[in-house]
Amino acid sequence: MSVEGPLKETPGHSPLGRRMESDHERLDELWDTGLAKWSSERPQATVLLREFRDGLLRHIQVEEDLLFPYFEARGGPGERPLVGLLLDEHKEIRAMLQRFMDQVERGTPSLEDAGTALRNVLWAHNTREEGLLYPWFNDGLDVGTGAELDFQVRAEIGSGDSPRT
Ligand SMILES: [Fe+2]
Ligand SMILES: [Fe+2]
Repeated sequence: MSVEGPLKETPGHSPLGRRMESDHERLDELWDTGLAKWSSERPQATVLLREFRDGLLRHIQVEEDLLFPYFEARGGPGERPLVGLLLDEHKEIRAMLQRFMDQVERGTPSLEDAGTALRNVLWAHNTREEGLLYPWFNDGLDVGTGAELDFQVRAEIGSGDSPRT
């Protein structure tokens, strides 16, 4: 018989799924502000969009290294196809992001085409995670490996402890 029960969230910290959602919101803000400044304040926009790129790559790496394996190991038989789909979308996001950032680094006057392509795939992906994956992580994690997972994610993405509401 297992003695493991749900992990109580550390006071002051949001549930893990909510913190991942908050990281989506943080990245969205960097994206929106960077694009809004692209025509008029190019150097600042470039800094913001590089920060967006770095944050997004870190975010999806954390999901692949930590969240997806944990979810697959503990979820039901329906979880594997979802993870497969999310991984395929990550591949597409990385390719679109590379194309978009190439244009940023070249100072392309209009980022619209590459930006729309990335935004479309990212929006659908984030919506899927927020609807199907993250709620699962809000219900409480196992003691032991769950606590370790929570600690590692917090250390990697850092930002999600004070989510915007
Ligand atoms: Fe993702
Ligand atoms: Fe995500």
